[in-house]
Amino acid sequence: MKNRLPLTFCLHGDRITLRAPRVTDAGDVLAVRHRSRAFLGPWIPMMAPEDDHLRSCKAQIRHQRNQWRNDQAYALVVADRRTDRFIGRVTFTEVVRSVFQNAALGYWIDVEYAGRGLMSEALSLALGVAFGSMGLHRAQAAIRPHNVASLALARRCGLRREGLAARFLFIDGEWADHEIYAITAEEWSRPQLAHGRGG
Ligand SMILES: CC(C)(COP(=O)(O)OP(=O)(O)OC[C@H]1O[C@@H](n2cnc3c(N)ncnc32)[C@H](O)[C@@H]1OP(=O)(O)O)[C@@H](O)C(=O)NCCC(=O)NCCS
Repeated sequence: MKNRLPLTFCLHGDRITLRAPRVTDAGDVLAVRHRSRAFLGPWIPMMAPEDDHLRSCKAQIRHQRNQWRNDQAYALVVADRRTDRFIGRVTFTEVVRSVFQNAALGYWIDVEYAGRGLMSEALSLALGVAFGSMGLHRAQAAIRPHNVASLALARRCGLRREGLAARFLFIDGEWADHEIYAITAEEWSRPQLAHGRGG
């Protein structure tokens, strides 16, 4: 499958920019991850603090760029539109083509930027890219049942609950149950089904 989204991809929203990851983001990514560790830890996989340094961060970004080139995963950087600096991520990983055209959806934001509607803007734009240039048909998020911010965000962006996956991911030291939320291209292109999307 030919990659449909070039690494030069860049999309501006009102307050955020979506773009491909660059090795020069590594310092900002690391600083954001360090100050957000307690905020992110209960919800997403975290690197051990001793492994989370500039060298590993640069290697991770190189890996993300390779995966992007190979149509395996798209780790979209959410940047502050004014400064173009990294403030978070929306990821479409485990991309499967052929009759599935599906990806796992993940997202997180710098604790200092949280709760201002920025991820609502970023995710809404990112889903447009996923069902547009990326050519996906379905995106699926796995959310811990008490992650109220993520559940609200998913619903706001039009994702629909599919069910509970027991002991789905090893997060924060345990095999944690997750709510599966998903959205398909048909739902995305029919605003009446995606209640409250955008904004
Ligand atoms: C989930 C997350 C990305 C949301 O990002 P954000 O930029 O703060 O989200 P927004 O400000 O756009 O808000 C989205 C919705 O969540 C609600 N929300 C945000 N923070 C909240 C909080 N701490 N408690 C309750 N609701 C919250 C907002 O009110 C909004 O709901 P609404 O649409 O009903 O008004 C962010 O909280 C985060 O990074 N959390 C840690 C990592 C994580 O959980 N990732 C997802 C794993 S499934």
